[in-house]
Amino acid sequence: MVQLTINGKQIEAAEGITVLAAAKQAGIEIPTLCAHKELTPFGGCRLCIVEVQGFRVPIASCTLPVSNGMVINTETEALKKSRKFILSMLFSERNHFCPFCQVSGGDCDLQNAAYHEEMTHWPMQPGWNGYPVDSSHPYFILDNNRCILCRRCVRACGELAGNFTLTMAERGAATLVVADTNVPLGESTCIKCGTCVQVCPTGALIDRTSAYQGHDESMTEIKSVCAGCSVGCGIKLIVRNNRIVRIEGDWDGAVNRGVLCEHGRYDPMNEARQRINSPLMKKDGKLTPVSWDEALGAVADRLKPLAGKEHDGLAAIASTRLPVEAMAMFKELFADGFKSAMVTSVEEGMTTAAINQVAEKNGAFEGKLDVLRNADMVLCIGANVAKSHMVAGFMIKRALPKGMRLVNVDPEESELDQFADVSLKPAMGSDLALIEGMQAVIVKEELGRTPLTIPDVDKVIAASVKASGVSVETLTKTARMLANAVSPVILFGKGITAQRDEKLVEAILNLAKLVGAVDSERAGLISVKGEANSVAAAQFRLDQQFALNGQQAVYAAIGDDYVSKRLVERLAKAPYLVVQAAYESTLTEKADVVLPVTIWSEQTGHYVNMDGRVQKAEKAVDAAESIRENSAVLAEIAMRMNMPIKQDWQKVLHERKSSVAFN
Ligand code: FES
Repeated sequence: MVQLTINGKQIEAAEGITVLAAAKQAGIEIPTLCAHKELTPFGGCRLCIVEVQGFRVPIASCTLPVSNGMVINTETEALKKSRKFILSMLFSERNHFCPFCQVSGGDCDLQNAAYHEEMTHWPMQPGWNGYPVDSSHPYFILDNNRCILCRRCVRACGELAGNFTLTMAERGAATLVVADTNVPLGESTCIKCGTCVQVCPTGALIDRTSAYQGHDESMTEIKSVCAGCSVGCGIKLIVRNNRIVRIEGDWDGAVNRGVLCEHGRYDPMNEARQRINSPLMKKDGKLTPVSWDEALGAVADRLKPLAGKEHDGLAAIASTRLPVEAMAMFKELFADGFKSAMVTSVEEGMTTAAINQVAEKNGAFEGKLDVLRNADMVLCIGANVAKSHMVAGFMIKRALPKGMRLVNVDPEESELDQFADVSLKPAMGSDLALIEGMQAVIVKEELGRTPLTIPDVDKVIAASVKASGVSVETLTKTARMLANAVSPVILFGKGITAQRDEKLVEAILNLAKLVGAVDSERAGLISVKGEANSVAAAQFRLDQQFALNGQQAVYAAIGDDYVSKRLVERLAKAPYLVVQAAYESTLTEKADVVLPVTIWSEQTGHYVNMDGRVQKAEKAVDAAESIRENSAVLAEIAMRMNMPIKQDWQKVLHERKSSVAFN
């Protein structure tokens, strides 16, 4: 720790932090523009200048490390004058006629900085050079006329999303933000995560859907959790007049720390599916709007005789996007109440069943996603995270320039191949042989951190090479990279878990133990799971493969999920089909009764992410009156069936051993 004085106040700060950070910790605010807590200090705008005793000129506090005995002033008259001058230069350089800009009004950091310095005008002639405006992107517009060259967007693209699409072109006053080699944004390598827009302090990057929709002060901000996948990113829903205007990443989000992907930020804003606004019943072969009472009465009458029939009664299937509360109710109603043997989820345990079998024997063995922050080596097996769990992919991609090494194992083409140090394409179905081969190399070369006995290592290596088609040199190189890493992380996904092979998961666990990636703060073994509540579904044992085998009805609680063509074909074979869903689909077309329900943003509930975080998603908007909450519909059916529901989801969640520790 070092001692320093800021504005006459004695403070203590950790060595290595900046003066800006030390001041903030002491409750002293220094104006900034280019600084951002999640980005590397850049020192470009100079607004954060401070006077340091012994220094000839004011100096940017965002790049100045603290040192013992420093005496600093942040609010002298000379500094205020300098800040006004800096802002005047920024305002005059390009077109920043913010008083006329409808995007701003409390939302623009440049304008707010001017208000903070009590500026009413700037004394210099504004520059009227025209700078390019790029409107080729589907979600946002890049207007270089509003840019202050703070490079927050460029840094966010590289440092947070790990994509490095945005960069700077030209020099001096003509400097521009461009994509790739100055190609239109819409044709660039942009992955549409929108992180650049979220960090832009002016209107240089304007969100297409929320621009001109009102100032932030007229909006309500609700913190929630994204239901897009099992990463479980913290989000902020910006709402006005019962409508979501914009989705932002929550900088305090435990998993994502502000970053979101296209699916989390933009997909919900571009929902094209048709909502169902009334209960529907098939009459004369046509789905016809009916009252809730008629629909629920018909369902209860039809299902009542099926209660207690384990195999020839009812089958039930739920979305893994349902909140835990609704999912627990679903399980209690159909598995415990109806005693049906076929109660599962739309994922059918593809991402969890094998892992849970291993957890039954070993207890929790998976680590937290946070280990990716310090990892120096990642072995990614059967998980195209750059596509399926994009924010987890960002965590890998952004660490690569810092020296992290990546081995990607996927028989199919994968986004991660282009970034990997080694890209392995083993023969389909040879994963177990490949993993055992890696283990054998590590044991043979005595690189393991835990004891593992393999009787004939050379035989295992030869068998691995033969089965996988991976050369012995590549196998050896990969195994050595993993064993020699200080903080190795093994990430695996559906390519592994969909094989439902307990032995394969066990082999990966043994490999992780061998290289010290289990029970470690700095290393880890993580399976990426599937949708937002895959883990909860597994805990409720909704993880068997769906099959109709004489059942007389199916209850499908789909919520706002998509249903695969293959599943629709199987469900459509049911003699009687009830679909609880928010959107019209090929499945609802086939239903005998459709019960319209809320979507993710219209209900409060919990989600358990891939590494066991139990997080609460808040309701942000009200659904139409004719639509009911997922759990309310299930509760109503339970009541009509005289099957009381205890609603103790926390207890049920912990009843089964899990591969992840809950927190
Ligand atoms: Fe320090 Fe911009 S905030 S130079």
